[in-house]
Amino acid sequence: MSTHAEVAVLGGRGKTGRAVISALQGAGSSARALGRAEMADLPAALSGCRALYLMAPNMAADEPGLARAVLDAARAAGVTRVVHHSVAAPYAPDMPHHLNKAVVEDLVRRSGADWTILQPCAYIQNVLPGLQGERPAIDIAYDPDRVFGLVDLEDVAQAAATVLLADEHVGATYELGGPDQVSMRTVAAIAEEVLARPVRLGRLTTGQWSAGPGADLDPREREWLLAMFSYYDAYGLPTGGGPLRALLDHPPSDVGTVLRRELA
Ligand SMILES: NC(=O)c1ccc[n+]([C@@H]2O[C@H](COP(=O)([O-])OP(=O)(O)OC[C@H]3O[C@@H](n4cnc5c(N)ncnc54)[C@H](OP(=O)(O)O)[C@@H]3O)[C@@H](O)[C@H]2O)c1
Repeated sequence: MSTHAEVAVLGGRGKTGRAVISALQGAGSSARALGRAEMADLPAALSGCRALYLMAPNMAADEPGLARAVLDAARAAGVTRVVHHSVAAPYAPDMPHHLNKAVVEDLVRRSGADWTILQPCAYIQNVLPGLQGERPAIDIAYDPDRVFGLVDLEDVAQAAATVLLADEHVGATYELGGPDQVSMRTVAAIAEEVLARPVRLGRLTTGQWSAGPGADLDPREREWLLAMFSYYDAYGLPTGGGPLRALLDHPPSDVGTVLRRELA
């Protein structure tokens, strides 16, 4: 595939999508965002694109339905290359939004396209909103000592651009964890060092979370997030760092590096 072919990025105006488009542009490729407006006329939105970055919105109600519609339109538009933004441990039946990504992985593998699947862990950037306030805090509704292969969103985006622009990744599924398996207790300690201020690590009960940070959510999203917290509480989300290290042209960023960069 030409390295300058246009890539359609589903969810390209969201948090991850903006980072992916910027990484693609940095690699010399043009990219086009697909969102709610473009869903009304997918053939027009996909016309002229060589590749599709298939990324559903966070906690999408019907991720397989959305993926099916976009994959069908991509096939009809002659898009031959598809990279799917999945998640670490997609086949986790206790987490509906993970399981939906496992279903989409199957759709992608049987789509007829030249596919690659990326399985990122949770982003380090997810803790930033709580750390940017007057009283920095990390509030979670799961065991602060469970570990996660937290990953830098910028590194994920760069890996996405790399696989989108090189055919050697066709048929590959890459788990994308950061360089360390870290607990939220460790993240809070690193944040204290970076900010040179105390960081409160709050352990909420699921009831407190539902009445607090989760109160205004759509009930289905709240239920799915509670299912995720319950899984995290029991197992964390350990995610290997080897594939990301191999895809990047620099060492993957650890928690301290990302927090220093983002909170400076
Ligand atoms: N956050 C993490 O730690 C993490 C880790 C691993 C994987 N992921 C996955 O990464 C993906 C992206 O998450 P995100 O938080 O970056 O997304 P996001 O900020 O929620 O962005 C989603 C974008 O999707 C578009 N959108 C919304 N509803 C749509 C619909 N019905 N049809 C088509 N497009 C629609 C919107 O674009 P418009 O405004 O243009 O309509 C929106 O900007 C999710 O699948 C998530 O599960 C996240």
